[in-house]
Amino acid sequence: MRTEIARPIRLTDYKAPDFRVSDTKLVFDLHPTETKVTATLTLERIGAAEAPLVLLGERLKLLGVSLDGRALETSDYEVTPETLTIGDVPDRFTLDIAVQINPQDNKTLEGLYMSSGRYCTQCEAEGFRKIVYFPDRPDVLSKFTVTVRAPKAGFPYLLSNGNLIDAGEDGDAHYAIWEDPFFKPSYLFALVAGELDVLEDAFTTASGRKVDLKIYVDTGMRERAAYAMDALKRSMRWDEEVYGLEYDLDLFMIVAVRDFNFGAMENKGLNIFNASLLLADPDTVTDLDYERIESVIAHEYFHNWSGNRVTCRDWFQLCLKEGLTVFRDQGFSADMRGDAVQRIKDVKALRARQFPEDAGPLAHPVRPSSYLKIDNFYTATIYEKGAEIVGMLKTYVGPEVYRKALDHYFQTNDGTAATLEDFLKSFEAVTGEDFAPWLKWYVQAGTPHLSITPSYDAETQRLTLALAQVTHPTPAQANKHPVPIPVRLGLLSEDGAPLTFTIDGETVSDTLFVLREAEAELVLEDVAVAPVVSALRRFSAPVKLTLTELDAHKFARFRGDADPFNRWEAAQSLAKDLILSATGTAAAYAEALRATLADDTLDDAFKALIIGLPTEPDLAQILTPVDPAYIHARRSAFKAELSNALFDDIEALYERFEDERLEAQAPFSPDAKSAGRRALRNALLDLMMASHIDADDARREKLNWRAQYHYQLSHNMTDLMAGLNAVAQLHGEDYDGTLEHFYDMFKTEPLVLDKWFAAQAMCANPETLNRVRRLTQHPDFDARVPNRWRAVVQAFAANNPSVFHDVSGQGYDFIADQILLVDKFNPMTAARLVEVFGGFKRYAEPHASLMKAALERILATPDLSKNVSELAGKALA
Ligand code: PHE
Ligand code: ZN
Repeated sequence: MRTEIARPIRLTDYKAPDFRVSDTKLVFDLHPTETKVTATLTLERIGAAEAPLVLLGERLKLLGVSLDGRALETSDYEVTPETLTIGDVPDRFTLDIAVQINPQDNKTLEGLYMSSGRYCTQCEAEGFRKIVYFPDRPDVLSKFTVTVRAPKAGFPYLLSNGNLIDAGEDGDAHYAIWEDPFFKPSYLFALVAGELDVLEDAFTTASGRKVDLKIYVDTGMRERAAYAMDALKRSMRWDEEVYGLEYDLDLFMIVAVRDFNFGAMENKGLNIFNASLLLADPDTVTDLDYERIESVIAHEYFHNWSGNRVTCRDWFQLCLKEGLTVFRDQGFSADMRGDAVQRIKDVKALRARQFPEDAGPLAHPVRPSSYLKIDNFYTATIYEKGAEIVGMLKTYVGPEVYRKALDHYFQTNDGTAATLEDFLKSFEAVTGEDFAPWLKWYVQAGTPHLSITPSYDAETQRLTLALAQVTHPTPAQANKHPVPIPVRLGLLSEDGAPLTFTIDGETVSDTLFVLREAEAELVLEDVAVAPVVSALRRFSAPVKLTLTELDAHKFARFRGDADPFNRWEAAQSLAKDLILSATGTAAAYAEALRATLADDTLDDAFKALIIGLPTEPDLAQILTPVDPAYIHARRSAFKAELSNALFDDIEALYERFEDERLEAQAPFSPDAKSAGRRALRNALLDLMMASHIDADDARREKLNWRAQYHYQLSHNMTDLMAGLNAVAQLHGEDYDGTLEHFYDMFKTEPLVLDKWFAAQAMCANPETLNRVRRLTQHPDFDARVPNRWRAVVQAFAANNPSVFHDVSGQGYDFIADQILLVDKFNPMTAARLVEVFGGFKRYAEPHASLMKAALERILATPDLSKNVSELAGKALA
């Protein structure tokens, strides 16, 4: 029985803590089912004289409490399922608490749990209270000293945060004592104990301090940590060079675990990673995995300053650390892999996940005003929109002033738990300007719609741009205010050449205008010819833009916008229009794409992106009501038409690369240039495959052997997966055989098997629905392992729209069943799938009713977790 009471936590109810915990000593006697944890807390009253001491704790067996060495009677305190309250306490005292917990039974993967026979922890956001009673809130910062004791056999490594200050033996057991000299909130606590392999290296900081680097992995996996180690050292250097931030301990550790709810966690000095975001070698991971590993390593490392040294006052400020850290890791990736390509990928991700969230019933501000379970707010809005806001601030003040503001932020808030207001104050401090208007981006939900209407007067050579913004109402926020929108824009002539203009007495070809009100007019002088307007360059603000323009202008930008982001954007915008208008033909589009592929000034990674058509979810965002079958049919038909129109070109290009690949003697390199070449070749393969629709036998046969060859002649996982996906796209006779072959090759590699499961779940063939059901009965399927469960269930619901939205409603039933199943033991992970039903009101019938019925069935289930009921309830509201 769950005893949880649904009571929302509100930002306006924030109260500073009544007690400070200057010192925290923890002792762990590790045992699979009866771990004993004792905490010795040094407390000091900083609030009201009468305030009782309220500690938070969940699922703990209390063994005893003593105050200043005196054991308390049960009448001295009160225990509820969520708290331990001691009414009468002095102003300064020491409290000893002993509890017992059961890590083996803990399948929530929060608090202390076991994964592959090892102990590990996950405390963000509110997991520490499952370890021991504590003021488990981010604004209570304490100095931690941790003793970890376990049997020597099976648990050779005993790790926690900070520096190892003592270790020893005690019969069959041994212990290690760790001290973290930095004050930190409990959510950054970590402990790992067990058998591990370690890859060691070192890094010398800019000021000459040597830091030992250790990455711990499953035994036998050490070589696969080499790429993560390299990415870590590059991250450390980058943060010194770009932000002037150095690492602050003598030791930095990362541990990879198999069972993890999220990607990775920035615990002070002891990051814990989902193994899928750490282990890499050419035979088991793809280029995309390398890219993600690089960025997540950077992300968690960067948290050491944006998150750990400066943490959050309360969880409403979550994006203070997450938005900023995502923005920082995006900057790192851009420097490693190219700005334009990185920007396009980041915007694609923003539009794929954050825009739908902001347009549906789960819309919430980047700083929410209330929540039931904070776990539910690790969302695309907080991460990705949060990062966009930092990016707009940087665009607005410029890179030098941005750096000064960030220096000011880290210096003035170091060692504290800060708010978004503190962040904006640093921009005010270095500019002398009022940044209050920017706070609206944090407190107002919904994606602003920006419209730009140009009118050109040839006589006066003047271009007048009428700009307007509007944000539609979102749940609980009916009235919206204008937000400052930085609009970077430039002009080109119809043949694609940059066009200069005069603004504020200066002649330029690019300018930045900030739209602060609902409407404004911008006048550009000395515009020699009727121009093509390239607005919102590099996606200078996270808005939905409607630019009044001719298709010819879009084609001009597709062929030659000086801003590569807008070049890609113009292509996407044309493709969306052509796909959704039932009469659109691909001929002109194919010509522009042909020219782009032949352009030697563009890099391969960019070309690979521009070959990729808007996804079905992209199209679903602009079609009302959403008809998934229509979108799928139209997109497939357009892609086939494009493929046919360009077939000889793409085949020739593909073959050229294929020869080059087969001749290449160079070993695999995951660097950006090599990855870009592979991405382009694989994009060409994918586009070729699209012509299977209505193909004659000769073409069909050709595609079959191309797909098979690609698969069989692969020398790395990137190409192998591309081959497998090509085979899946054809869905011919050899699909099952190829899957079997793949399985036999990798059945002992769990991370590769995840790809095998996911590839099947994402195959856009109606048969996939039955296949996915069968996969959940596969001996290698285990719903308790989040990576495996997500590989099948999430991949299906989020990345296979045409089958998930099958008119029968069976896809919805399947997903609802899975959410309910996993909610019984891992609410955090289960709840994150609810969003696939979020936009049901936008769907055509029968989808809307069937999705609604699935949500209603979820919500009507007894003993639902707070996590799932909060999201299902909101989705239905
Ligand atoms: N703080 C982690 C990150 O973004 C995410 C996370 C949240 C991990 C909650 C685990 C649990 O880096
Ligand atoms: Zn983070």
